[in-house]
Amino acid sequence: MGPSGSGKSTLLSCALGLIRPDRGSVEVAGRDVVPLRSGAVARHRARHVGMVFQFGELLPELSAVENVMLAAMLGGARRSRSLNAAEELLHELGISDSSVATGSLSGGERQRVAIARALVNRPSLVLADEPTGALDDANRDRVSRLLYSLPSRWGCGLLVVTHDQDVASGATHVARILDGKIAVEAPA
Ligand SMILES: Nc1ncnc2c1ncn2[C@@H]1O[C@H](COP(=O)(O)OP(=O)(O)OP(=O)(O)O)[C@@H](O)[C@H]1O
Ligand SMILES: [Mg+2]
Repeated sequence: MGPSGSGKSTLLSCALGLIRPDRGSVEVAGRDVVPLRSGAVARHRARHVGMVFQFGELLPELSAVENVMLAAMLGGARRSRSLNAAEELLHELGISDSSVATGSLSGGERQRVAIARALVNRPSLVLADEPTGALDDANRDRVSRLLYSLPSRWGCGLLVVTHDQDVASGATHVARILDGKIAVEAPA
């Protein structure tokens, strides 16, 4: 958490290896991503990190299953395996008709598809930037419960950026960024 412009999205971009800090190291899945070349950092990201954006950022003309499959295929899986993995995940996340274009899904459904896409390569770390910012209260609660269930169900780490105190209250630790410093609060 932290005020607008404090550097929350920037911190996630560092974990994704999209921005290199001026100094220091950024260890993701046991590896410092700062010294890696861009090809190596992209492979490391595809293998180890899943990202969920505020507005889902799905390809709207593709179906849910195609959006999730595409991420699996970019991660190196074959077509048939990608299809199976995508269908299984979407079913588990409660997207029943995964063949309609995601542009016509509701905001909450789109976020669940975005979470499926983030999970399909079995990442060590899931990053989410304001994942519930565009949702109503009921969908916010559903999506945040789903996100917080991921570490125990999937054995991954989870780092969520949020402005919403209700969402933050589900986390085991809350880190606040203020004036360039990060302070981690003990679990409630
Ligand atoms: N590559 C960059 N180089 C220099 N400055 C940058 C870069 N990217 C972002 N910034 C600046 O860093 C600051 C933090 O931006 P960031 O997007 O991380 O904020 P934020 O905490 O995510 O805010 P919000 O809550 O509004 O999304 C902003 O002032 C932004 O303009
Ligand atoms: Mg931001």
